[in-house]
Amino acid sequence: MQIITTIKELRAWRNSVDQVAFVPTMGNLHDGHLALVKEAVAQAPHVVVSIFVNRLQFGQGEDFMSYPRTLDADAAKLEAAGVEVLFAPNEAELYPHVSQSYQVEPPHLQNELCGAFRPGHFRGVATVVSKLFNIVKPNVACFGKKDYQQLMVIRRMVQQFALPIDVIGGTTLRAADGLALSSRNNYLSPTERAEAVYLS
Ligand code: PAF
Repeated sequence: MQIITTIKELRAWRNSVDQVAFVPTMGNLHDGHLALVKEAVAQAPHVVVSIFVNRLQFGQGEDFMSYPRTLDADAAKLEAAGVEVLFAPNEAELYPHVSQSYQVEPPHLQNELCGAFRPGHFRGVATVVSKLFNIVKPNVACFGKKDYQQLMVIRRMVQQFALPIDVIGGTTLRAADGLALSSRNNYLSPTERAEAVYLS
């Protein structure tokens, strides 16, 4: 597996291959991510996974600084899963103008459900995903159904900007008691963890 950190190198690699499937992530990979990677491997001969903790989608007081960054362990998992390229840019590479003042504004969909409690979250997601799509130019992109509202925001964006990308929704992986796997489950206290099961 190649680990690529610059847009220039990623573009040079992209120009040398045909069909690409893409799985964007923020890292700290668990079996749910690896199921998406498996789906991507089945969809195209070349698979790119990105790892980038996207400041724009974190609200004030959210966990941007403490979000777990586990690049070495993630790279080992991706290599074992048959990924060809890990794209892991740093912040200056993806957001050289820090403020990234041009952003993608999703429609009213962004203000409902989870979005009602996280103002600007889906704008940050749509902005980074559209930027990653411009760089990776995938034919297929895989997103978990666990983040269903995110999947809908991305599907609508792809449709309305006429991007030639097939967006696949991957099945949610769950712990034995039914809780959907998520990097943030580790934040839950034993009581919260027990209560969270009721969501499923
Ligand atoms: O689902 C995620 O991990 C993130 O929202 C994504 C799609 C990688 C964008 O940063």
